Amino acid sequence: MRLTVALLSGLACLLAQEKEKEPAKQPPPEPTNLKILKGANGKDVREIMRTFTAGLGVQCAYCHVQGNFASDENPKKEATRHMITLTQKVNGDFADGKMRITCYTCHRGETEPKTAPEAKPNS
Ligand code: HEC
Ligand code: HEC
Repeated sequence: MRLTVALLSGLACLLAQEKEKEPAKQPPPEPTNLKILKGANGKDVREIMRTFTAGLGVQCAYCHVQGNFASDENPKKEATRHMITLTQKVNGDFADGKMRITCYTCHRGETEPKTAPEAKPNS
């Protein structure tokens, strides 16, 4: 739970700027099927989801079946639960408990992180 809160507050900081530009809207519906991000409200979830799309360079549909965000039918969603746990674990291993790594740290806007630099011509 402590890790979840740290992750959430870190993400909130990252997205604070973006949020300010947003016009007032209806609050998103409360989530009904959270297994990892327990305690997050609809607004938290929406912000976290944006870090996923930006981190991996994908749309919502990469992990969600159309029209039903609570559904676990898309296997990418379950795979992502493991990724969230992994990310929380690594952040929890830093002494200060701050959010040191995010999806983007490894993924860099791609679904498959690289393990070595691209071979460059003439180098
Ligand atoms: C990389 C995969 C991934 C992407 C991309 C993604 N999501 Fe999610 N989403 C998840 C996972 C995993 C959960 C469940 C988290 C949990 O179990 O704690 C979730 C949960 C949700 C929920 C809560 C559903 C409920 O009722 O429990 C909503 C709403 C949601 N996502 C919306 C979105 C939107 C909108 C986008 C696009 C902006 C998006 N997601 C992109 C993986 C993703
Ligand atoms: C420490 C590095 C690292 C971090 C941090 C990380 N990932 Fe990954 N992720 C990987 C690697 C490596 C793979 C490819 C291995 C694989 O396919 O199982 C991967 C694969 C994935 C996949 C595809 C899995 C599949 O089976 O199709 C998804 C979706 C994903 N990551 C989402 C996320 C999200 C969302 C986050 C942030 C919560 C995240 N990852 C954070 C390293 C990372």
